[in-house]
Order: sequence, then structure tokens, then C-alpha cells
Amino acid sequence: MYSDEAAAALYGVLNPWGPSDDFYLALVIEATSVLDVGCGTGALLHRARQAGHAGRLCGLDPDPASLGVARHRTDIEWVAGTAASMAFDSEFDLAVMTGHAFQVLVGDDDLRASLTAIRHALAGGGRFAFETRNPLARAWESWHPGNAIEVVDPSGRPVRVSHEVEAVVGDVVTFTETTSDPDGAQLRVDRASLRFLDVDTLAGFLADAGFEIEAQYGGWFREPLDPASPEIITVTRV
Ligand SMILES: C[S@@+](CC[C@H](N)C(=O)[O-])C[C@H]1O[C@@H](n2cnc3c(N)ncnc32)[C@H](O)[C@@H]1O
Repeated sequence: MYSDEAAAALYGVLNPWGPSDDFYLALVIEATSVLDVGCGTGALLHRARQAGHAGRLCGLDPDPASLGVARHRTDIEWVAGTAASMAFDSEFDLAVMTGHAFQVLVGDDDLRASLTAIRHALAGGGRFAFETRNPLARAWESWHPGNAIEVVDPSGRPVRVSHEVEAVVGDVVTFTETTSDPDGAQLRVDRASLRFLDVDTLAGFLADAGFEIEAQYGGWFREPLDPASPEIITVTRV
């Protein structure tokens, strides 16, 4: 067995700070009040406070174990909930969804309700920034057990983490993430579905929810978006 708490702590080992975090941190530092939707273990807002951000920082996530890690910092607001359940009213200059959290919004209804709640959370002129993997780059094709990685978790335990795609239906990819002992004994299996919206479909959802696209990039150093770009990084305004 591998607990939800151990898995939340392992997340930081599997996803160390990188160029995507630097991209978002720059936006966060510029904004007075920031909402991190699907904040996970809260690393972005932790770093922003540590870097001297003096305004309102609020992270929201439905996963109690991730929020448990996030709450190690008590000078940030942490809220349990989903994007669609939020009832903030014109309170933030910036909302972000990082670490491909946007792709967990799989169904049209959930996606629309989530975008509406994010728009309502933003003050006039506020920004919403997020990324979604470019479906044309077909990232899921590398999600197979041959690409398993071995790491040491924060408690010092060596573990192997591997992925396997179960189904690709339309623009939704369903896969498992298996955490094992190095000898292969399974400790836990997590199943997830992610949506891979294409540029035009994404633009339609954003326009319907009242967002104007300010900029789009294909990579974390603001490379132009082209068909082969791995990411569709979008900065919008309301
Ligand atoms: C891949 S993690 C990214 C976490 C964090 N943003 C990061 O960059 O490390 C996706 C997060 O989305 C959260 N999540 C799942 N469903 C959600 C929903 N409907 N609304 C908001 N967040 C959700 C998960 O609990 C998880 O913490």
C-alpha cells in the first residue's frame, strides 16, 4: 500500500520546479491577488510568498492529501473544492491552472462551469493563464511502462512509477499511473482521464465563457505556438 499522503509527497519529487513554474511565478509576482485553481501541493504559491509576494494568495484543490502538503504554509489561503464549485466574486487579478490541471476538466459541462466560475472570480481586466498539452504532439504515446522511472520518495523509500494508456476516445485520454516497489510489487494504481483540446475548440470554450485571448505560446520560453508545439500556453483577459 502507498497512502494518498505518500503519493502527494511523491508528486513534488516527480514534478520538480522547472521552466513552467518560472513562467507562472513571473505572472504571480506581477499580480496583487492570485487564485491557483487545482493548486495541488501548493508549490507555486509557496514560492511566491517566499519570494516576497505580499498580496492575497489563494490555492484551491479538491484533493485533501495535496492540500495537506500545501497547508504547511499558513500564510496562504487554502480552499478545498473543485473549479466549478467556486463562488469567488471579482476578487482576483490573476487566476492560474498549472501542471496541466486544466486537462482534468474533461466533460463539456464541467469545463464550461469551471471557466464561468474562474471568470466570476476575476476582477475586471483580470487574467487567467493556463496550459494544455497540444493534441498534435500526442504526448500520451510516451506514457507506457517502458518509460517507467525510479525515484526515492521524501520518506527515503525507492519507488518505480509507470504509466499505461487504457483508452483514447475522441480528445480524452484515460491512463493509469502505477507506483511499485523497485522489484515490481504494486503499491497503488491511480486512474485518470485528461482532455486534449485543440486550439480552435479551446478558443470556442474561452470565448463562450467571456475570456479574450491575450497571448498564446508553444513553450515555456514564450516560443510561438505552431502545430508541433508540445504545449498550448494561454494567457487570457476578462
Ligand atoms: C497534475 S495536478 C497539478 C497540481 C499543481 N497545479 C501543480 O502544478 O503542481 C492536477 C490537480 O488538479 C486537481 N483537480 C482535479 N479535479 C479538479 C477540479 N475539478 N477543479 C480543480 N482542481 C482539480 C487535482 O486534485 C490535482 O491536484
